Amino acid sequence: MLPDPKYFEYNGHLRENTIEFSKWRSSDLQFDKTHQNKIQHVIVDNIDKIKDHRVLDLGCAAGYLPYLCHYYGAKHVTGVNVRSDEIKVANYFAEQVGMTNYNFVEQDIEDFSKTEELLKNVDTVIISFVLEHIRNPEYLIRLIAKSNVKHLIIGSTIVEDSITQPKLYYYTHDTEWKYNAHDGDRKKGLACCPNSRWLETVLYYHNWLIQDYKKCDQFVPWWFEQENLDTIPWFEKHVYFTSTRRQT
Ligand SMILES: C[S@@+](CC[C@H](N)C(=O)[O-])C[C@H]1O[C@@H](n2cnc3c(N)ncnc32)[C@H](O)[C@@H]1O
Repeated sequence: MLPDPKYFEYNGHLRENTIEFSKWRSSDLQFDKTHQNKIQHVIVDNIDKIKDHRVLDLGCAAGYLPYLCHYYGAKHVTGVNVRSDEIKVANYFAEQVGMTNYNFVEQDIEDFSKTEELLKNVDTVIISFVLEHIRNPEYLIRLIAKSNVKHLIIGSTIVEDSITQPKLYYYTHDTEWKYNAHDGDRKKGLACCPNSRWLETVLYYHNWLIQDYKKCDQFVPWWFEQENLDTIPWFEKHVYFTSTRRQT
């Protein structure tokens, strides 16, 4: 059973950074289909990799997925976000809902030496719709593979192209929107989007055994209204991969 959707409401109010916890209401708020899919395929389908595990959520927005990890019995959860406002809200929210055994860290996940530190003493890593906002997603997956992490849960936007080779499409992203890529003070940042073959290949190459794979129809027409730096892809979906370290 999912928690009361009111706990999700702060994700919306976060845009204003003004709403006090006591004013949050259950109201008639519902999880939309996109978020239902995310919660199902990132969290609920992977409860055995979350419950009693130490979880690291890279690119945690305002901490909703860490909250769900806590709700489903994670031993400890760390959320990382490069944006300080969201880390503040995540801490505030966690305190209000009585979360225990958590930590929110303000950090760029592409600051790889720091991320390597965070990967110590972690069983499960979640990267939910973040790979496509950074510049070197392959290096991040490699770093996780080099650590002792056992499970890797990825949700990602993909380009549905007709190309069978692994491919990353680079584009520039509006960094003022807080769910996007981040690039210091710049208003535009470089980001990328893989095709499905890229994710499969990179996971395989770095010894991740894909245990579960879901593809969801999720056409978001505005996604590629950004400036593209390559062939303009014309279709986009969401995919979810659950991988476990392959024995070599
Ligand atoms: C599309 S949102 C996804 C949020 C959340 N994981 C989810 O699935 O709802 C991308 C998140 O990654 C964060 N982010 C983007 N680039 C980052 C970076 N280099 N380091 C850390 N966080 C980053 C953004 O601030 C934002 O919270």
